[in-house]
Amino acid sequence: MEKILVIAFGGQYNQLIARRIREDNVYAEIKPFNKITTDEILKEGYKGIVFTGGPNSVYDEKSPHYDKNVLNLGIPVLGICYGHQLINYMAGGTVSSAENSSEYGKIPLYVDTKEPLFDGVPEKSICWMSHNDFVSVLPEGFTAIARTDKCCYAAVKDEKRRIYGVQFHPEVSHTEYGKTILKNFVYGVCGCKGDWHIGNFVAETIEEYKRKLNGKKVLCALSGGVDSSVAALLLHKAVGKNLVCVFVDHGLLRKSEGDLVEKTFRGEFDMNLIRVNAEDRFLTKLAGVIEPEKKRKIIGEEFIRIFEEEAKKIGKVDYLVQGTIYPDIIESGRGDASTIKSHHNVGGLPDVIDFEEIIEPLRYLFKDEVRAAGLSLGLPRELVMRQPFPGPGLAVRLIGEITKAKLDTLREADAIFREEVENAGIISNQYFAVLTDTKSVGVMGDARTYGYTVALRAVSTDDFMTADWTRIPFDVLERASSRITNEVKGINRIVYDITSKPPATVEWE
Ligand code: XMP
Repeated sequence: MEKILVIAFGGQYNQLIARRIREDNVYAEIKPFNKITTDEILKEGYKGIVFTGGPNSVYDEKSPHYDKNVLNLGIPVLGICYGHQLINYMAGGTVSSAENSSEYGKIPLYVDTKEPLFDGVPEKSICWMSHNDFVSVLPEGFTAIARTDKCCYAAVKDEKRRIYGVQFHPEVSHTEYGKTILKNFVYGVCGCKGDWHIGNFVAETIEEYKRKLNGKKVLCALSGGVDSSVAALLLHKAVGKNLVCVFVDHGLLRKSEGDLVEKTFRGEFDMNLIRVNAEDRFLTKLAGVIEPEKKRKIIGEEFIRIFEEEAKKIGKVDYLVQGTIYPDIIESGRGDASTIKSHHNVGGLPDVIDFEEIIEPLRYLFKDEVRAAGLSLGLPRELVMRQPFPGPGLAVRLIGEITKAKLDTLREADAIFREEVENAGIISNQYFAVLTDTKSVGVMGDARTYGYTVALRAVSTDDFMTADWTRIPFDVLERASSRITNEVKGINRIVYDITSKPPATVEWE
């Protein structure tokens, strides 16, 4: 398989670069700059290398550098932002900093349209810049191929060695032709043909596990979330009934969710599924608990205890499945997706289960690829496209003491809100209802009511680290409000949460 190496220097868009390249059907993997040597690069047979951006200045003592030899391996290199400056510096050029040289935001870019890197890019377009330093003197063998009003080396090349550098960020959507430029590098300069297709990956992974896991017993904790669902189904296709899935239903799921999971995995896919209906156990433990962190802790511990009990009944297994995905690996600093340390503690589970090794079938995939894999495996769209849902479930969306009656009320209100948002075609990354602990006076017919207030929450975000509240049109909010107060007993007031994160968080608890 063709592979592009993305060498990470700490930039915030590292993952985006790899994702963009993969969207063009070429496999890209990210390695921190200090986790791969030039010998290893040669051995892996990469078709091209991308140096990412980063927050440093090449002259800082502590700034990340790389072995100069990388420019002489005969493999094309593209440097982006800091990567562009670093390549120029390594090749003998000069990087400078001047008070009025910085560029930030959308900047007009003028390119030499005859250049292969700019095939299909008009002479003038918009690019996204974010830099203080700039390349002031080009290294020998380099020429300029694009400029902005302030920056005469907005893009450069060393044609002989097939080395390119761009000061702007082609990976962000604000760069109008960024995707074209990355594609030109990967196809035009590196000569890739495009052999990364999720369907092939799924088929090959299944075949690999068929060989590797023949006759072995595999255990998977199924949460109903996208990652564990796709991981479980992939394994099921490889080992059939030798995969046992344990689905702990803590009674804190959304409306009909537990049944959907059971219907899908046992009904449609005939999987070996154990559903543990543990609502009573969880509610007993949670009775009288108000403090959010305490709720989380109780749920986490009880989950592990129940899973442990089930695992004991099953006995020793060979493999434990984890739904780890590629961003988890990059963010945890593991660096190499292929080195799996067994017995590393993920979510507390491995400590209590008797198993030989962990398998992580999704460890090479980004979230959107996990969804695509799920669809290609035949998982229903409503399961694959679902929004993120926190492990502690509705417990962190129900303020105050948790009771079965309040949970049922919240489930109804939440289902109505989600339905209205979906019917209106609103794009939002997460949207749900919260049952507050506030009661207020209302009037219905001629009678006074005293009911709970439901808060509606919808956020738009790239990474959930920060988030903005989604501008849901008033008529959609009105419909949701009217339906909830009419259809759900005990609710007489609806409010819409218009706080971003920070200062608020996405969840209320
Ligand atoms: P916050 O509320 O921290 O949420 O802004 C950010 C994202 O994380 C999810 N979230 C959780 N997920 N266990 C999880 O698995 C948790 O305890 C948890 N708390 C928050 C939240 O739904 C949002 O997507």
